[in-house]
Amino acid sequence: MHPYVGLFLGLGALAAAAPQVTLTPLSGPIPPVRSSEVTGPTSHGPFSGTPTVTGALSAPATAQSIAPAGAPVVTYTNNNGKLQASYMPVPYQPAGGQGVNGTTPYYHPLSDFDYESLTLALYQEWIELDLFHYGLATFSVQDFEAAGLTAQDRFLIEFMADQEAGHATLLSNILGPAAPPQCTYNYPFTTVREFIDFCQKLTRFGESGVYGFLGHLDSRESATLLLQSISTEARQQMIFRQFDGLFPMPVWFEVGCPQSWAWTLLAPYISSCPANTTRLAWQNFPSLTVLNQPNPAKTNPNLGAAQAGTGSNPLNSSDIAASNQCLNATGSSDCAPAISQNRSIPLSYPGRPVHFAWGSVGEPVGPNNSYVTSRSPLADQPRYAMFVSQLNATYVPLVNVSLAANTASAVQPNMSTFAGDPAANGTIFISIVSHNPYVTPFNLSLVNPYVWSGPVLYQAG
Ligand SMILES: *[C@@H]1O[C@H](CO)[C@@H](O)[C@H](O)[C@H]1NC(C)=O
Ligand SMILES: *[C@@H]1O[C@H](CO)[C@@H](O)[C@H](O)[C@H]1NC(C)=O
Ligand SMILES: *[C@@H]1O[C@H](CO)[C@@H](O)[C@H](O)[C@H]1NC(C)=O
Ligand SMILES: *[C@@H]1O[C@H](CO)[C@@H](O)[C@H](O)[C@H]1NC(C)=O
Ligand SMILES: *[C@@H]1O[C@H](CO)[C@@H](O)[C@H](O)[C@H]1NC(C)=O
Ligand SMILES: *[C@@H]1O[C@H](CO)[C@@H](O)[C@H](O)[C@H]1NC(C)=O
Ligand SMILES: *[C@@H]1O[C@H](CO)[C@@H](O)[C@H](O)[C@H]1NC(C)=O
Ligand SMILES: *[C@@H]1O[C@H](CO)[C@@H](O)[C@H](O)[C@H]1NC(C)=O
Ligand SMILES: *[C@@H]1O[C@H](CO)[C@@H](O)[C@H](O)[C@H]1NC(C)=O
Ligand SMILES: *[C@@H]1O[C@H](CO)[C@@H](O)[C@H](O)[C@H]1NC(C)=O
Ligand SMILES: *[C@@H]1O[C@H](CO)[C@@H](O)[C@H](O)[C@H]1NC(C)=O
Repeated sequence: MHPYVGLFLGLGALAAAAPQVTLTPLSGPIPPVRSSEVTGPTSHGPFSGTPTVTGALSAPATAQSIAPAGAPVVTYTNNNGKLQASYMPVPYQPAGGQGVNGTTPYYHPLSDFDYESLTLALYQEWIELDLFHYGLATFSVQDFEAAGLTAQDRFLIEFMADQEAGHATLLSNILGPAAPPQCTYNYPFTTVREFIDFCQKLTRFGESGVYGFLGHLDSRESATLLLQSISTEARQQMIFRQFDGLFPMPVWFEVGCPQSWAWTLLAPYISSCPANTTRLAWQNFPSLTVLNQPNPAKTNPNLGAAQAGTGSNPLNSSDIAASNQCLNATGSSDCAPAISQNRSIPLSYPGRPVHFAWGSVGEPVGPNNSYVTSRSPLADQPRYAMFVSQLNATYVPLVNVSLAANTASAVQPNMSTFAGDPAANGTIFISIVSHNPYVTPFNLSLVNPYVWSGPVLYQAG
């Protein structure tokens, strides 16, 4: 007999409620706390009602920005590679570490920061579950075949949807009774390639939004489970890039972004949520548009009419000259689904002028139009385009700023991570900001009080 520990994630998330059980191969599966099959409307489209509540969840703020608090007290250094402590807790376990001393793991939020971050992640998992199913249901077999996607590829999309049911169950279990249910969504695509490209972009900010807060959670237990689901999401993002004919991973590091950036990008696609759905505390910044987005449906992205992309930058594959369509192009111009595609003409390059337009504060957005765009009073002027990619945040001064037209331009920077690796590649984030505080991946959110508008996703490569 080979007993095994069943449904690790479900049990882990339920640790507070369920005893540890060892299942035999004859045991049935443990049902989820919140089944994705019994929630979630199946309709789609925009919302045209009046919200019954408005604005983010809030409590009185104690400051407008986080003041510098100095360096942490560091009590450990190791310059000789040897064990520095004089003992080990047990053989082969070096001294130190968190949560390894026998304390029972508690897989639940430990603060409002945790609760709000994990709830945002659940909003994201629900839309992914709906989106992948919706794409499969909306387009015909012929549509998919014309876009180069086979029955095997469609099964993979279906499997990715199933993964989302698991992720939504995990997060619902972690959050408890007030976990938000599935909502109703409004999508910005009309073709298979636009659907695939939207999936590539939505999973980018889903993944990056989690990397932005993962290491900041008070609940290390929740962080561990969430990482195990977001690692799957990272693979989904790469697969959608491959389906999109893009180079699968043109970066050395995956980028993280603050929660309010992810929420700003996600909210426009949630048209309504059921009554009493748990609300979020994150900010919706004014929208940002790149007026000349690099277009992955083109062989030469520099030819033809410039195409605007707002927020998540949905692909617009209409109005591309037949001779510049890359899907069925020959040779190195081809962008059909593939394990790896090397574009003969890169989508963007350092020195490329990037033109912006931004939206206003006070605009209704998100579920039931019940959230409102805002910026901090500290964001007094648009001064920089902040390019956030890989490990880097680079501020480029805006030029040609028009406060009357809400437009400005900046030049794509030539920045690198290490050893000359170009940092601005893949699907990256740009925000317009008023000030340029030095931020690094673990304190990126300190820029939030200075965000004028955005982020927008920029299809750098
Ligand atoms: C284990 O570590 C936690 C947190 O670091 C601490 O609160 C707890 O007292 C420790 N337990 C034991 C048995 O040392
Ligand atoms: C690409 O080729 C496929 C198969 O030949 C065809 O069905 C499809 O319409 C073509 N798509 C475009 C955009 O030319
Ligand atoms: C949002 O709209 C839906 C559908 O009209 C409605 O059932 C729900 O109560 C609304 N929720 C809020 C918070 O207004
Ligand atoms: C929403 O919450 C209110 C107040 O708790 C309650 O009276 C109402 O029945 C709830 N509506 C739904 C649809 O759950
Ligand atoms: C797509 O781009 C064309 C211009 O190239 C524009 O006319 C059209 O409105 C755009 N469609 C959407 C949905 O934005
Ligand atoms: C890939 O594209 C680059 C130009 O972007 C070119 O230098 C290189 O030779 C190409 N490699 C292959 C294998 O096609
Ligand atoms: C992004 O990476 C691809 C693949 O390595 C490369 O061909 C392209 O030139 C890069 N783009 C930029 C903007 O660095
Ligand atoms: C970017 O910087 C690198 C390293 O300084 C340099 O070799 C390269 O020519 C620069 N590229 C552009 C387009 O300026
Ligand atoms: C700013 O405007 C000037 C004059 O129209 C133009 O030459 C320049 O290219 C613009 N800069 C950018 C980055 O677009
Ligand atoms: C990008 O980030 C890496 C790692 O922090 C750093 O070494 C590098 O200098 C940064 N590059 C730029 C242009 O800021
Ligand atoms: C962010 O962290 C870096 C160190 O990685 C530090 O130099 C910088 O001052 C911090 N930024 C702010 C705004 O506190």
